[in-house]
This record gives sequence, C-alpha cells and structure tokens, in this order.
Amino acid sequence: MTILVTGGLGFIGSHTIVELIEQGNDCLIIDNLSKSTVEVVQRIETVVQKKVPFLQVEMLDKEALRDVFRAYNISSVIHFAGYKSVGESIERPLLYYQNNIISTLNLLEIMQEFNVKKLVFSSSATVYGDENWPPLKEDLPLSAPNPYGRTKLMLEEILCDFVTANFGWSVALMRYFNPIGAHKSGELGELPFGAPNNLMPHILKVASGEKNSLKIFGGNYDTKDGSCIRDFIHIMDLADGHVKALQYIEKNMGCEAFNLGTGRGYSVLNLIHTFEKVTGEKVPYEIVDRREGDIVVSIADVQKAETSLGWKAKYRLEDMCKDSWRWYQTIGALSIK
Ligand code: UFG
Repeated sequence: MTILVTGGLGFIGSHTIVELIEQGNDCLIIDNLSKSTVEVVQRIETVVQKKVPFLQVEMLDKEALRDVFRAYNISSVIHFAGYKSVGESIERPLLYYQNNIISTLNLLEIMQEFNVKKLVFSSSATVYGDENWPPLKEDLPLSAPNPYGRTKLMLEEILCDFVTANFGWSVALMRYFNPIGAHKSGELGELPFGAPNNLMPHILKVASGEKNSLKIFGGNYDTKDGSCIRDFIHIMDLADGHVKALQYIEKNMGCEAFNLGTGRGYSVLNLIHTFEKVTGEKVPYEIVDRREGDIVVSIADVQKAETSLGWKAKYRLEDMCKDSWRWYQTIGALSIK
C-alpha cells in the first residue's frame, strides 16, 4: 500500500517524505514543480538511501490525477500541494482560489472514486485570524485575514462537510505555526521561489553577507522587547507530526484539527539573537514600520496533539537555527534568489 504525498517536493512535503520512509512506509510523490525543483527528489534519495517514486502531475488536471490512482494502490493521502504566499494571494486571489480549492476538490472526487478515505491536510495557524488570544486552541472561532488564509479555511470547512456526508472517512487538518530549520544532513531545507517572505530565509541572507541588514517589521508592539512573537517549530518535528496524524486517522474516523507548534513563543529579536549565538554570525538589523496584517503574538496550544496523536515537538530554537544555517551553507545559498 502506498501513501500519496501531493506537493511532496516542497519544504514541508520533502521533510515529511523522509520521515515517512524512515519509519518504514512506501510513498509516492506528486508535484507540479511550479514552486519546487526536481533535484529535490535526488536529495531525498541521498538522505533515505533508496529510490523514491516521483511523478510530475498537475492536480488541476483531473484525468492526470485519476491515472495516478489507477497506477498505484493508494491507501491514504497527505495533501501539501498548494500556493502559500500571502502577498501573492492578495494580488492574484483567483489564482489562489482556483489552484488551492479546485485541486483539492479534484483530489476528493478521485479519492472517493477509488475508495481511499484517509487524508491528512496541510492547513495553517492563519485560520485563527487576528481576534483570538494565545495559546490558540483548535476549537476557537476561525477567520482568515487574506485570500491565502481563506483558501485554507474554506478547505477545512469543505473537508469537514465532506466527511459528515460520507461515512467512513477520516481527515486530519494540520495547523502549522512557524516552521523553520532543515534536515540535519544539510540536503533539504526551505527553497522560497522568488523573493522570500518569511523571516528565516531573510536572516540567512543577512548572516551570509548577501544582504546588509534585516528589516524587522515593528519594534513597538506590546511585547517584552517590542517585536512580534511566534511559535517557531523545527521542520522535522512538523514532519513527524504528519506521520503521527496518519497513524491517528488509521484508527479514528471524522474530521479533526490539530495544532503543530511547540507551545512556546519567541520574539523576532529572540530568534535573531539565538541565531547569532549558535552560529557565531552577525545579523545586523534595523527596525522599520510594522508590516500590514501581522498578528502580534501567535502561540499554539499543543495539548490536543500531545494527547490524541502522542506527538510533541522535541527540537529547541537553537537546533532550528543551527540546522537552517547548515542547510544554507550546504545548498540553500545556491538556490535562494
Ligand atoms: N519579519 C520581519 N522581517 C522579515 C520577515 C518577517 O520582521 O523580513 C517578522 C514578521 O513581521 C513577523 C515574524 O517575522 O512578525 C514572522 O514572519 P513570517 O513571515 O516568517 O511568518 P508569519 O507568522 O507572518 O506567517 C506565517 C506563515 C504564513 C501563515 C502565518 C499565520 O508564513 O503562511 O504564519 O499562521 F499564514
């Protein structure tokens, strides 16, 4: 039996594949290569020391997706494929709605056709919106501040409606906080396509001297040091969370959301200082205006994942910084534009 991993060459997908294979599972990666490169397949193979099947498939093409299910004996799906840039989603909302929603609808239809009823879905902590106060618990009222976030929120609702209407399905909605870090081999990490939006890729560019200084968006928030607070989580912990979610849905029916975070908040300045301490590199920064749409504090309540999935984040902020830097020095610097 094969686990189908859509978007398996992206940041979270590629690390999850490694974890799945190392825990003895057979996987098939599909990816349309719109935001990733085929070299990631070789890098995954270097890490796991075996061949990993990959097909370039466009999920908007229902027939192509159907062919995948015809050719492989698929038992469950982890669905990562989707666009994820907040800024781009504001500029090109239709692209986001079309790509993220339609590809998932196609997937559900085909899964139903082939009687595959287990799905782990890549959601985001963005669905908690900006009205809730942390720690953020799965049963809080949800909202999303931009089209990207709304695709995640809509898909969560679509998936739960679908599960209610169809007996025997189990779906886990994984709400990620702020994944950083990289595989310890230095072979796999985050490869932003185009200019990076997230904090860690910017820190890496400044630490390596490619950029003079980091812009910190806002230094006068109502926090200890004035910068925003995030629940940074190591990508390998996140990957392990997916494996645990898959084991959970093997035994439990229904549609359930799970936070994947550490339950601890660190400020942007904390992250920079920790990075400097563990790498010995300087990260000069300047405080600039707040970035529109940023929430001040985002921290997960991790109790449900701990109790139901038997999962807990293991890595510390120091590991996240060290591993990100190792990756950047090995491969990332060549790839991040
Ligand atoms: N930041 C800077 N300078 C930068 C980049 C980011 O100061 O150059 C700050 C941001 O203002 C924010 C923090 O670093 O305070 C983290 O920003 P990221 O862009 O790395 O992450 P966000 O928390 O804004 O966004 C993440 C995901 C989104 C998701 C969101 C909500 O990247 O996909 O969490 O869950 F929607």
